[in-house]
Amino acid sequence: MARFVFAAALSLTNLALAQTIQDGVDATPETVAPAVEKVEADASTSGVDYFPFESSQLTPNVIANLTNYNLTNVDLFNFSDTETATQKRASRACKTYPGDRSWPIRPIWDLLNILLGGALVEGVPPAAPCYSDWPQYDEAKCASITSQWQTPQYQLSQPLGIQYYAFEGVSCLPPTLTRTGAKCTLGGMPSYVVKATNVAQIQLAVNFARNLNLRLIVKNKGHDFKAKSTGAGSLSIWTNALDSIQYLGSTYSHGPSGYRGPAFKVGAGVQALPLYQAADKLGLHIVGGNTRTVGIGGGYTAGGGHSPLLSMYGMAADQVLSMEVVLPNGRFVSVDEKKYPDLFFALRGGGGSTWGIVTSLVIRAYPKKPVSTLTYSFGVNANVSKETFWKGVDAVFAKFPEYADEGMYNYWSISCMFDCSFSMAPQWGNDMNSAKLKTLSTPLFDELAGLGITVSDATYKEYDGVLGGIEGTWSAESEQTGVWNFNTGSRLFPRSNWDDPTKLAAQNAALRQSVEKAGLMLGYNMKAATNPSVNQTNAVNPAWRQTVLHALLGATWSQEATPEDIAAANKNLVEMMQPWRDASPDAGAYLNEADINEPNWQQAFYGSNYAYLYQLKQKYDPWGLLWAPTAVGSEDWYVTNQIDYYPTQNGKLCPK
Ligand SMILES: Cc1cc2nc3c(=O)[nH]c(=O)nc-3n(C[C@H](O)[C@H](O)[C@H](O)COP(=O)(O)OP(=O)(O)OC[C@H]3O[C@@H](n4cnc5c(N)ncnc54)[C@H](O)[C@@H]3O)c2cc1C
Ligand SMILES: *[C@@H]1O[C@H](CO)[C@@H](O)[C@H](O)[C@H]1NC(C)=O
Ligand SMILES: *[C@@H]1O[C@H](CO)[C@@H](O)[C@H](O)[C@H]1NC(C)=O
Ligand SMILES: *[C@@H]1O[C@H](CO)[C@@H](O)[C@H](O)[C@H]1NC(C)=O
Ligand SMILES: *[C@@H]1O[C@H](CO)[C@@H](O)[C@H](O)[C@H]1NC(C)=O
Ligand SMILES: *[C@@H]1O[C@H](CO)[C@@H](O)[C@H](O)[C@H]1NC(C)=O
Repeated sequence: MARFVFAAALSLTNLALAQTIQDGVDATPETVAPAVEKVEADASTSGVDYFPFESSQLTPNVIANLTNYNLTNVDLFNFSDTETATQKRASRACKTYPGDRSWPIRPIWDLLNILLGGALVEGVPPAAPCYSDWPQYDEAKCASITSQWQTPQYQLSQPLGIQYYAFEGVSCLPPTLTRTGAKCTLGGMPSYVVKATNVAQIQLAVNFARNLNLRLIVKNKGHDFKAKSTGAGSLSIWTNALDSIQYLGSTYSHGPSGYRGPAFKVGAGVQALPLYQAADKLGLHIVGGNTRTVGIGGGYTAGGGHSPLLSMYGMAADQVLSMEVVLPNGRFVSVDEKKYPDLFFALRGGGGSTWGIVTSLVIRAYPKKPVSTLTYSFGVNANVSKETFWKGVDAVFAKFPEYADEGMYNYWSISCMFDCSFSMAPQWGNDMNSAKLKTLSTPLFDELAGLGITVSDATYKEYDGVLGGIEGTWSAESEQTGVWNFNTGSRLFPRSNWDDPTKLAAQNAALRQSVEKAGLMLGYNMKAATNPSVNQTNAVNPAWRQTVLHALLGATWSQEATPEDIAAANKNLVEMMQPWRDASPDAGAYLNEADINEPNWQQAFYGSNYAYLYQLKQKYDPWGLLWAPTAVGSEDWYVTNQIDYYPTQNGKLCPK
């Protein structure tokens, strides 16, 4: 039986709550039960039953009951009063960091783990077995980790795994994938992780982090390009296991919005592929991303979410009917147009890790429709001069408003590593057979032929729906992750540029100039369709509503790059993107696929909603409990030990 000497926790003297810590408590999994009570959905909730994992909650009952265990320091785990905290906002301090006097001593983490039912794991970098100074050192294990490292499945199966390590700080990668002689440190990765399998655990972690002024992070699939789901010295809530999917039927009726029709209840940890499969089997489509592993209920929908169906039905965030959320004060609430309408606004497009921890959402579905795709390419060659090539590109770009209006989603790239070449891969026609897609594409091919550009590799394919289209277009292996050698900037180009030949010429010149410097540019031609059957009054970047082109430009560096080299490449990227900003002055960028160094990111990522969103952030999270780079309100904090243009999560989080 472990004896918990809470006297040691009295080093928390700077916290008033330390006074309530009693001298000693015996606590083991045998004597202390996990902090959880079964609660059923009722009239105060969203009208849909909880998932079983949502019925297990932390309630005031449970908190009061904790005193039965002689845990007089229940203040560590109790809820907070948002209103009182709002008045106390000025008292923010640096988040407690490992090594600080007030960092919880081991027995407190052990007690948390007991109350979590054993869901707490200590933060150990997944590549630790590759380094002899870590107790996990094991060469065979290292070889196996190294071989899987760059697959999304490996990274998302790991408590600390993320898809892009650059802005974490590249603290611990397998030796063959990082700088020669690199060490392994915990760096920008969390100190502890809650492997959440129920809502009570999330609430407990939220209360514990808030009451002890710990840095709290939320990781779902770890896909974020800006390292928004990692952070040094943090407690991480890992939502990966909340992967339930429930079909609510074809006549689901949602009171607050008046919607009646097919809908799914989706756990926050659900990946795109299983949801596409569940929908497909029922003859349905849902609005999701173009890759198999993106988390639908996590950062994707929170940040807006673009989809092959974007030009048909609008953003992923537009499809949400209700959400279940753990708020920063620890309470678990249902959110929709009638309950917490302001939060409902913010949670749909206002970004992940800002408003609360979403555990599930109800999204609407649509009848399945056929999909046709077209791939083709052309480039500078003996018969096509550089100037002719760029005329050809202009001809493609000119079609974008029309293609978006036809419901298409067109993914293209231009490479100028050698002679420039253009690749459409693919042009994606929703609710179209290949004959229709061919008819729509013939005028462009005629124009290209008129310029002397022969497209010889045009290939059409037909699918019965989005699932087939995605599986037939992108292989599971094409999602290379676990890397740190690049960064991308992006821009949402508005339709108004196409209405004015001068603006269009300036835009296209800016795009050309940048890719000739950078070597590679990608883009999506699509629009966030106006959809009268959903509520589109939400926090999605208003720039999205004007967009017909979302273009991305990359910066790369070598495996031996130093932090200074990375900073220089990132600074160059910011500068290369300036002509894009100049060519779309009131537009913005998509926060889920944008540059962490984007200047004036508040305007670029949130547009005219920013001031209101900032106000809501203070209302629901006066503690600044949830923080992530470029999230609403993040400008009030900074991470220590950073160099310009290379922000990482490897430092202490402090108020400005
Ligand atoms: C291979 C790949 C393909 C992509 N394809 C698309 C695409 O087709 N369309 C598109 O729009 N975007 C796409 N993206 C971008 C994607 O939307 C973002 O990377 C997004 O952040 C992913 O969310 P996540 O939950 O998977 O990642 P995470 O890194 O786990 O989380 C991202 C952010 O959301 C927060 N968060 C996660 N879960 C929750 C939760 N339950 N409650 C509150 N906050 C939470 C995290 O704290 C973090 O701030 C793609 C990214 C990758 C790597
Ligand atoms: C309350 O505490 C008792 C032990 O004193 C325990 O058996 C019971 O499960 C607890 N109930 C709740 C709801 O936490
Ligand atoms: C928990 O906090 C609430 C105030 O939010 C307080 O009323 C309650 O007494 C606290 N519970 C315990 C067991 O201390
Ligand atoms: C709580 O403390 C009292 C007094 O020390 C003791 O009698 C009781 O057995 C303790 N209860 C538990 C659950 O340990
Ligand atoms: C859409 O939802 C918002 C809450 O975010 C609400 O204020 C508004 O009235 C709703 N709009 C419509 C048309 O129902
Ligand atoms: C250029 O045109 C000639 C004559 O039409 C043709 O034979 C040749 O294959 C073309 N070259 C390329 C690279 O397309």
